[in-house]
Amino acid sequence: MGLFRKKLKQEHKVMLQAERAAGAQLPEYHRATPECPHPERWSMYDSMTAEVEVLEFLATLVTTIKPELIVETGAFLGVSAVWMARGLQRNGFGRIVSCEFDPVVFEKAKTKITESGVAEWIELRNESSLTMQVPGTIDLFYSDSDLEIREQEVRRYLPQMRPTGLILMHDASSHPGVVREAALRLEAEGLISVVLLPTPRGLVLAQKREGRR
Ligand SMILES: C[S@@+](CC[C@H](N)C(=O)[O-])C[C@H]1O[C@@H](n2cnc3c(N)ncnc32)[C@H](O)[C@@H]1O
Repeated sequence: MGLFRKKLKQEHKVMLQAERAAGAQLPEYHRATPECPHPERWSMYDSMTAEVEVLEFLATLVTTIKPELIVETGAFLGVSAVWMARGLQRNGFGRIVSCEFDPVVFEKAKTKITESGVAEWIELRNESSLTMQVPGTIDLFYSDSDLEIREQEVRRYLPQMRPTGLILMHDASSHPGVVREAALRLEAEGLISVVLLPTPRGLVLAQKREGRR
């Protein structure tokens, strides 16, 4: 419980920092890793929101694979949801269901999404990724909540994944290795095939094995 409270405070702290920064970009300051020795070559808004280049990648992925249903876990201030929604807007169809567990952060994300101009493509829910029910087949699953539960999330939503769909797990760098190890474990079990993108915080791009042709 003590740990949980500390974590919530960190999210609120970063939320206030993000407000003060008012959209300014900084050099990424995640520590250098063997796979990404120059993190400062990337940019970021804050330490919770995905790297700017990853946000751009998400939007491009949406226009590239044309998903009908995107599920995101961990909205934080809704920035990644908004970038993916811009891709949906360009496609002209599809929707994102994103969840944010923390009620304070959820309210802030709701306001930001309302002001984004792409709110109609996003359904933001104040619930946990581990209990949220999203009927339908998922074309793009973006796991970006708590590091410790990313593996559980992938296992939970895997049966709903379209075999041609994509699973993304953010924060999969070798430091801290928890998400990377989870992805490699899922691969070793034969559940998914992974590609480890060498970005500052790490990004796993994966596909489920079942049903692959
Ligand atoms: C890394 S941030 C998400 C950043 C966001 N995807 C972006 O790039 O703009 C992680 C967020 O997940 C939320 N979170 C943690 N556990 C969660 C859960 N089980 N369900 C939903 N949200 C959760 C946290 O409150 C936090 O705001």
